[in-house]
Amino acid sequence: MKVVSVVGARPQFIKAAPVSRALAALDVEQVLLHTGQHYDDAMSKVFFDELDLPAPDINLEVGSGSHGAQTARMLEGIERVISEARPDWVIVYGDTNSTLAGALVAAKMGVPLGHVEAGLRSFRRGMPEEINRVVADHVSDLLFCPTRTAVEHLAREGVTRGVEHVGDVMVDSLEWIRPHLRSDGLTRLGVSGPYYVATLHRAENVDDPDRIVRAMDALGAAPGPVFLPLHPRTAASVDRFRVAIPSNVRTIQPLGYVDMLSLVVRADAVLTDSGGLQKEAVLLATRCLTLREETEWPETLEGGWNTVVGLDGALVASTLAGPPPRGAVTGFGDGHASDRIARLLLA
Ligand code: UD1
Repeated sequence: MKVVSVVGARPQFIKAAPVSRALAALDVEQVLLHTGQHYDDAMSKVFFDELDLPAPDINLEVGSGSHGAQTARMLEGIERVISEARPDWVIVYGDTNSTLAGALVAAKMGVPLGHVEAGLRSFRRGMPEEINRVVADHVSDLLFCPTRTAVEHLAREGVTRGVEHVGDVMVDSLEWIRPHLRSDGLTRLGVSGPYYVATLHRAENVDDPDRIVRAMDALGAAPGPVFLPLHPRTAASVDRFRVAIPSNVRTIQPLGYVDMLSLVVRADAVLTDSGGLQKEAVLLATRCLTLREETEWPETLEGGWNTVVGLDGALVASTLAGPPPRGAVTGFGDGHASDRIARLLLA
């Protein structure tokens, strides 16, 4: 059996790594196709190195651009690769433009399509990721759902064929990397005492001059130092809109997976608009505050581990001053989602 995996952006390298290992264990022939959506070493190469993901067989090097231009370049390149490789399956991951492009090409060429992390919904069509998810789900043959909630979302849209509740592949990656977490990054950053970690990169938060200022002010409401590894999209907006960085916020370069999780596991809390980081934080027993109006991961809200605070600084301060989270978050699987995915593809 031959599988083409389409990846392109940072979170997809994290999701593809355990699936690639599971497929290799079953002797499946694999072609790893990188669209080149993310191209800086800090956004791409470091994840391949740390997660032991083989270097991409093909890199389309599409780079940045408007949604239309970027996706169009991907469509053309992916179609060429799939025509030549003639795979039995194409696999796409998550909700990026690379996912959308991979899904459209496979579906139109009649190649069976598997979607890892199917069924997530924010119920906000204004988010590019929501459009990408909905389209990918509706053209997929196998839909690998991380949670029961995801299965229910699909059922409500009439999608029940090929839906498999396998668990979350990010748990697989997290468990794989956990023994490698270390404290030397903290020394390098000069961290002593309590601190917070933040990330910001959603288009809705950083492309709008008012919202990015409010987001920074929300980070400024944390009662202690906040480390903010700056996504290139956010760095560009900070420059363009001349956004003032609050005095307690320390902007740093984007971090690799090990450094990021090492920082998160010891943090007092994480403040983020990322989807994946909400889960990583709570699974590492670090409280999360989500800088959005909703979450695709309602399971993380259990016991107060995650709180949706929007861009409301007062809510940031009161949540951090409030009672600590209780119990443990469950519902993301047992760390063997990738093995199930590989077996289902082979079957
Ligand atoms: C994309 C995904 C988002 C995912 C995120 C992870 C879409 C629509 N969005 O958002 O779901 O959570 O990746 O990071 O696919 N840039 C660089 N170097 C890089 C990559 C990007 O400088 O290596 C800059 C470019 O100027 C680019 C901007 O960042 O214009 C945004 O990159 P893009 O890939 O369009 O979307 P993300 O914001 O990263």
